[in-house]
Amino acid sequence: MQNNIPSDVLLRVDNLCQYFKLGSKELHAVDHVSFDIKKGEVFGLVGESGCGKTTTGRSIIKIHQITGGNVFYKGQRIAAGTRGYTDRIAAIKKEYAERVASDRSNKSAILKERDGKIAEVRAEMKAAVAEARNCDRNYAAKLVAEVDAEYRPLIEKATASGDSAELARVKKEYKAKRRVAQKTRLVTQIQMIFQDPVSSLNPRMTVREIISEGLVINGIRDKEYIDEKVYEILELVGLVREHAGRYPHEFSGGQKQRIGIARSVIMRPEMIIADEPVSALDVSIQAQVINLLNELKEQLGLTILFIAHDLSVVKYFSDRIGVMYFGKLVELADSDELFRHPLHPYTRSLLSAIPLPDPKSEKNRKRIIYKPLEEHDYSTDLPSLREVSPGHFVYCNDAEENKYRKELQGE
Ligand SMILES: Nc1ncnc2c1ncn2[C@@H]1O[C@H](COP(=O)(O)OP(=O)(O)O)[C@@H](O)[C@H]1O
Ligand SMILES: [Mg+2]
Repeated sequence: MQNNIPSDVLLRVDNLCQYFKLGSKELHAVDHVSFDIKKGEVFGLVGESGCGKTTTGRSIIKIHQITGGNVFYKGQRIAAGTRGYTDRIAAIKKEYAERVASDRSNKSAILKERDGKIAEVRAEMKAAVAEARNCDRNYAAKLVAEVDAEYRPLIEKATASGDSAELARVKKEYKAKRRVAQKTRLVTQIQMIFQDPVSSLNPRMTVREIISEGLVINGIRDKEYIDEKVYEILELVGLVREHAGRYPHEFSGGQKQRIGIARSVIMRPEMIIADEPVSALDVSIQAQVINLLNELKEQLGLTILFIAHDLSVVKYFSDRIGVMYFGKLVELADSDELFRHPLHPYTRSLLSAIPLPDPKSEKNRKRIIYKPLEEHDYSTDLPSLREVSPGHFVYCNDAEENKYRKELQGE
């Protein structure tokens, strides 16, 4: 099935659901979350601890088998969940059971129609799952074909020249590149930086081993090449080549996070998911690490999903911001728009938590506490994510949508 994803969208998260089994119940850690990230953009994902930010990131890089929805990367489906389809099948069964109950004489015709509909949904589900499962294989096959096409004329030329040393060199290079292409997975183009640099770095590995691990896993064996890459990346993240032989405990928190960043950018990813990369660091170090990410973004042309639990960290860094509350995306807008016209009461409460630089206004700052049960009446008028002005989405029902639209016009 062809999807119509605009070419400037690098990542599309479409109705992502990640449910965890909790005994006989299900915890909806991420519940129908949708957003696009455009190429070159910094997308901030914000919300309090436990709202599902990390789970969203981990689902994108396929650490979890997602429960429902899809993830598309460069227009290719890289993950697909089955829940949406099984829900549709259950709804069809229910609908047709009711029809049979009210029209018994036509039972067999009705059931036949039902089975046809169910078969259609099943086929759609199978195709989606297969497409996601094969995405890496298809991608590797494409890369291998590119390497083959590049080296075929080179090998022919070297053969024709009769220079056996040159031919051996070209063949060796060809084999090495082909091996890397075969092992490449689409999802390695997305790398994750973790919140806690201490626990995410193996204490028994040297910095060189930690940083080069991804290269080695990807089939690169040339030690000299690996060393060169490690030195290059160390310098890129503000460390020095002498650090390569040391162990994580010899570094400060900020330096450790630089090592974590080095490890993720050595794979030359196009996208980075930075999961609260500065939350564990001293305030004085936070700005340095953010600046580093900003520089890398420019130098390497990265697209970034930046996860944080408070808005102040993402404010200056993000182009667009999504606000999550208990597994749901409650607001999504351009960064400036979100700060100027926050609409969802939860976003307002997050904003009210940011200290103000001016002492006078800081003194008058009032914390807004979000109380969902008092704020919303979702008993009959049901909420969904709606676009209340161009590019500005809020999770609300009809009554709230009207109110928000009026608010925006009134200003
Ligand atoms: N592997 C897991 N198994 C069960 N529950 C999980 C798992 N991972 C996360 N959760 C739960 O999902 C919810 C969201 O967690 P998480 O994505 O880590 O939130 P955040 O990163 O926003 O703090 C939490 O209630 C958490 O306890
Ligand atoms: Mg987290």
